[in-house]
Amino acid sequence: MSARPTLTGRTMLAGVIGWPVAHSRSPLLHNFWLARHGIDGAYVPLPVRPGQFETAVRGLQAAGFRGANVTIPHKEAAFAIADTLHRSALRSGSVNTLVFAADGRIEAHSTDGDGFVANLEAHGIDVARGPVLLLGAGGAARAIAASLLDRGVPVAVANRTRGRAEALAGMLDGITVMDWARWEDSLPAYAALVNTTSLGMHGGPDDLFAPSLARAPDGMAVCDIVYVPRMTPLLRAARARGLPTVDGLGMLLHQARLGFREWFGVDPVVDAELQALLDADLAG
Ligand code: ATR
Repeated sequence: MSARPTLTGRTMLAGVIGWPVAHSRSPLLHNFWLARHGIDGAYVPLPVRPGQFETAVRGLQAAGFRGANVTIPHKEAAFAIADTLHRSALRSGSVNTLVFAADGRIEAHSTDGDGFVANLEAHGIDVARGPVLLLGAGGAARAIAASLLDRGVPVAVANRTRGRAEALAGMLDGITVMDWARWEDSLPAYAALVNTTSLGMHGGPDDLFAPSLARAPDGMAVCDIVYVPRMTPLLRAARARGLPTVDGLGMLLHQARLGFREWFGVDPVVDAELQALLDADLAG
């Protein structure tokens, strides 16, 4: 175990604001990158109670922090406090990354959608190949749909509660709604399938989620944003059919890059060493 670096008055600071925040892997990830690049910086967990978000953010700004990631339950408060909402935040309707500018302004981004696409590209999958079917209509689905649509990729959404899929289609031009009962039959029309629901997640509503991919066309990319377990039932079914798969861990790593770049000035690399570190931590 390497010694902790000495923190000084010049150390660049950022962190993750959440409640609870102890489960967040962001400190592990960012501090790994800081050490790798020899940057005089630190990234800390910031447990902030509901209702205390604005007080905490103003305090962090006053203390010279460069910015922060924001997680549950503060994502709406983060949207509200921003002085500048970048396109990603407006399109996804959410914020997970704040940058405190030198002039006191707060800039807000949502990095989930672009992190998802970057991860696909890192797996050698060209998202522009054809239409994508998203399962789920929550916040993650909206962020991913926005990033795909921005690249000209047609998106269909299937959700158990059809009204939520219709609401999503009303927010973003270019989405078609697919009936939840019909998604397995509709697979021949798609170049990629993405699960954004909690189905298949350890401790989720149905960790045995066993969809049929019998009708999936050859070469269809099958992606899951669930990363515990990394090999979800959906990805297992895809492997069994010989389809290319993309698991959720890479998205978690890629979505963190924008904040790191903004706060610490270096675009960090997602590689096997980092994935192994996260894997070991998630397994422990
Ligand atoms: P997030 O914002 O993180 O995407 P969310 O808003 O809680 O999370 O959305 C969870 C998704 O998982 C929803 O699409 C939800 O479907 P409903 O809108 O019908 O609730 C989906 N989901 C959760 N449990 C499910 C289940 N047992 N079967 C099918 N879909 C499920």
